[in-house]
Amino acid sequence: MNADGRTRLDQMPEWTALAGHREELADTHLRDLFDADPARGTGYTLQVGDLYVDYSKHLVTDETLRLLRELAAATDVFGLRDAMFRGEKINVTEDRAVLHTALRAPRDAVIEVDGENVVPAVHAVLDRMSDFADRVRSGAWTGHTGKRIRNVVNIGIGGSDLGPAMAYEVLRSFTDRDLTVRFVSNVDGADLHEATRDLDPAETLFVIASKTFTTIETITNATSARKWLLAASGDEAAVAKHFVALSTNAEKVAEFGIDTANMFEFWDWVGGRYSYDSAIGLSLMIAIGPDRFREMLDGFRLVDDHFRTAPAEANVPLLLGLLGIWYDNFHDAQSHAVLPYSHYLSRFTAYLQQLDMESNGKHVTRDGEQVGWQTGPVVWGTPGTNGQHAYYQLIHQGTKLIPADFIGFAEPVAELSGELKAQHDLLMANFFAQTQALAFGKTAEEVRAEGVPEELVPHKTFQGNRPTTTILARALTPSVLGQLIALYEHKVFVQGAVWNIDSFDQWGVELGKVLAKRVEPALTEGAEVPGLDASTKALVARYRTLRGR
Ligand code: F6P
Repeated sequence: MNADGRTRLDQMPEWTALAGHREELADTHLRDLFDADPARGTGYTLQVGDLYVDYSKHLVTDETLRLLRELAAATDVFGLRDAMFRGEKINVTEDRAVLHTALRAPRDAVIEVDGENVVPAVHAVLDRMSDFADRVRSGAWTGHTGKRIRNVVNIGIGGSDLGPAMAYEVLRSFTDRDLTVRFVSNVDGADLHEATRDLDPAETLFVIASKTFTTIETITNATSARKWLLAASGDEAAVAKHFVALSTNAEKVAEFGIDTANMFEFWDWVGGRYSYDSAIGLSLMIAIGPDRFREMLDGFRLVDDHFRTAPAEANVPLLLGLLGIWYDNFHDAQSHAVLPYSHYLSRFTAYLQQLDMESNGKHVTRDGEQVGWQTGPVVWGTPGTNGQHAYYQLIHQGTKLIPADFIGFAEPVAELSGELKAQHDLLMANFFAQTQALAFGKTAEEVRAEGVPEELVPHKTFQGNRPTTTILARALTPSVLGQLIALYEHKVFVQGAVWNIDSFDQWGVELGKVLAKRVEPALTEGAEVPGLDASTKALVARYRTLRGR
């Protein structure tokens, strides 16, 4: 029993039933499941919006799915979901509502936090963003010298970078190709240097994105960017035309020297890693235009509505969350690969890493007790065909179980033509071939039948039984991107709810930040830092010697 009166997750009968069921299925191969049910390839599928989700190549039966849904019911996943959508403060350690879903709510929706409807403010900011984005795109907003803005540099980190940076790549073919849009996050000066070295300050707009406006990397880079601008213009008044801020903290924005008239606001009930459809998306909106941005929000909303209303049997985020639990907790899988078959999704998995690992990388329950079960998986992956020639070997024939999501599109982006368009079928042939190979493998008998010498047979045998989800859509559009992100947001939610952890705080990143601040004077001034361990002390001394200090 937990302190909050809940039965410990691993003592629930639904959990024990799943553990027993796992034993029963131990010798079942995906080949058996497909042989036993010829309709499995179409039966084990769901559709949400434009996303066709095939989960037939999972190590599950109807009974597995039933037991998993019972676990979800016993842990009241839908109860917590409803509390989230209602604006209750389900982020218990920060005492905050969790309302990224309000960012894409329709104008006439009513969602209250502390008795106040937040939807009008959401739309007021969206309207201001749209107006500003239109002015930059049309050339109506000019730099200090009257030159048109040709470059947008977003400075932010974590949730204030990964979302817009990822989405900008995903939607590149929808962007205004005359604008250069870059994203700077790393406090390594090389990042800002490379992003600005070929730009004209008079044509450059800096978008400073930080929920707290206290993040040291962002403030340091923003300060350097301001110096870079002022070195060229020499006039403090230039800042107002070349800097805008995206933040919840007007006071700190003003303190930095950005006019709050040039600030686009969001709220403490938007978590950093859930924020790119808030004001944090401004750089993206400038790149793709307000209409495309709103199409993306519609995509998010479509999946929100689905998650909120679809019954458990047809609820895709619930299903994906529970499948993850099945592997994490009952197959002892350590990681989860996300493998998009689209070049445009090159930053997609990096984005999901923060979404999933910062949300569910927790070791205590919501009431502070040590968990006795695995929580969030290590999320990793890169676009598929590149991965095939790098790490797929381990997925196919290694000793670790790595469940994977394969994401692909029937059509290449509209911009492609001729041979480049024709290459899409080859890309997708790989997409389909890989999940088949992973599921069904190649038996020793099949290998022998090819005349392979006996000593090579074990090497050329593929066990198969490697589980995958296939997500297929017609085309990669702004709406489809919104649908995909909302799908993963809610999947992460489901898992956090079952594990009874707070998916919306991130205390684990604090210690490193505090220590970095403490260590810096030791590097620069050779200051004695109390409490520095012997290894770190020696490393700092070596660093100073190498720097000639
Ligand atoms: O260090 C983690 C974190 O707090 C993330 O959760 C957040 O997205 C990132 O830092 C950036 O924070 P901010 O937007 O306040 O600069």
